[in-house]
Amino acid sequence: MQIDILTLFPQMLQSPLSTGIFKRAADRGLIEINTHNIRDYTHDKHRTVDDYPYGGGAGMVLKPEPVFEAVEAVKSGITPEHPDESIPIILLTPQGQPFHQAKARELSRYRNLILICGHYEGVDERIREHLVTDEISIGDYVLSGGELAAMVVADAIIRLVPGVLGSEDSPQDESHTHGLLEYPQYTRPPAYRGWLVPAVLLSGNHAEIARWRHEQAIARTTQRRPDLMAKPKPDDDKK
Ligand code: 6GU
Repeated sequence: MQIDILTLFPQMLQSPLSTGIFKRAADRGLIEINTHNIRDYTHDKHRTVDDYPYGGGAGMVLKPEPVFEAVEAVKSGITPEHPDESIPIILLTPQGQPFHQAKARELSRYRNLILICGHYEGVDERIREHLVTDEISIGDYVLSGGELAAMVVADAIIRLVPGVLGSEDSPQDESHTHGLLEYPQYTRPPAYRGWLVPAVLLSGNHAEIARWRHEQAIARTTQRRPDLMAKPKPDDDKK
């Protein structure tokens, strides 16, 4: 998978992209993440990327020209495997659709993604209307820019790309995969400061362990996230 990220602050992305799972996956050739400075697609002496909003009001608005040109330059460097292959062009913005695990899974199936980090008070509406295919928000709060949100979204996506995590099935059990929070995990020692690991986990009875974990996941989700319990679960149709 290749992800191209358009930003005004590429330096902000360098450290996360050169660390941990991003680095390992890139070194193994499973992902390629490129950053592009939107300012490099300006043509004036001052390299202007923003301007005052028509109609007045506070703040600045990201101009359309450098963003369209940056996306077009990135797309022209991508050779499609199939003639009708689509490339999602995703704007990170607090006005976007809320991001969730199912969206991460859907996006993990593309060969290419283009992420645009929004900034200032907003972006020219023509970017939304005529360039972008998806708008994503990572939660109901306002960040100064889309860069950290792009890292959140990219992390959630790449760890679902086959081979990126050590074991292929490790994303299967984790929180949100089945619409539930994950069950409690324990490791050695079996007793720490008098606090014991639940006996069922030491029993070797895999059916009992699976039952206990499912009960715990339901109890935990009911208590912490009743909103998730009200939603249909991905496996409901199999029961
Ligand atoms: Cl994607 N961008 C910004 N600037 N703020 C946000 C966000 C994105 N998601 C939540 N808040």
